[in-house]
Amino acid sequence: MARNPFTPTFGVSPPLLVGRSDLLEDFVGALEDGPGAPGRMTLYTGARGTGKTVMLNEVEDLARQQGWRVISETATEGLVNRLVREHLPALLSEIDPDGVKSKVTGVNAPMGLGGATWETSEAHEVSPALRTQLTAACDLLAANGAGLLLTLDEIHHQVVPELREVATVLQHLVREEREIAFVGAGLPSAVSAVLNDDVLTFLRRADRHSLGPVAFP
Ligand SMILES: Nc1ncnc2c1ncn2[C@@H]1O[C@H](COP(=O)(O)OP(=O)(O)OP(=O)(O)O)[C@@H](O)[C@H]1O
Ligand SMILES: [Mg+2]
Repeated sequence: MARNPFTPTFGVSPPLLVGRSDLLEDFVGALEDGPGAPGRMTLYTGARGTGKTVMLNEVEDLARQQGWRVISETATEGLVNRLVREHLPALLSEIDPDGVKSKVTGVNAPMGLGGATWETSEAHEVSPALRTQLTAACDLLAANGAGLLLTLDEIHHQVVPELREVATVLQHLVREEREIAFVGAGLPSAVSAVLNDDVLTFLRRADRHSLGPVAFP
């Protein structure tokens, strides 16, 4: 195995990204292919230092180049709160400055969704704000031919309850053919532990790519 000439710098993108062009093409292809493209739900696994965070940075840049908006997060405690209190309100106020859509579909569940909270078939409670805000963002972006990419680094079983919420909402959005993409990354053992959760079966259908060590020519 070739020696890595770079000192690990905690996810700082290298000047030249080695050996990942096929994976990145898969991702861009999935954005172009439209809702339902399998690559719109992608998981990168790999040992420490194999370049997972760098891949997330890269897919985020590629999505932005396609006009997509990006929410970049880490799977740590408080994830759902950060999404519904910080990222999504900020994004919505930017893409919907008059609040036309987000007012209707803001923190309260819209009509027909069963009031303040609802349960999935797995009897799991989901923040209504998460679904309504994500739905509003996807729809506003779709009106301009774009969509929303959510990336989650450091996926870990310690945050399974919050990942359940996120995955449940993603599942709804995908089923509704909305313009959403999700890319997660984590250590192989951590991702396996998460995928073993009964409620997270949806994520098992994501395109899973194991990142080997970077093959320097
Ligand atoms: N494709 C690549 N080509 C060249 N250098 C790379 C590539 N991918 C990652 N690197 C370099 O390798 C180092 C580690 O990358 P990164 O931090 O993304 O790994 P990681 O898998 O996220 O690690 P951790 O599990 O510790 O979070 C960084 O210095 C990065 O610049
Ligand atoms: Mg990393």
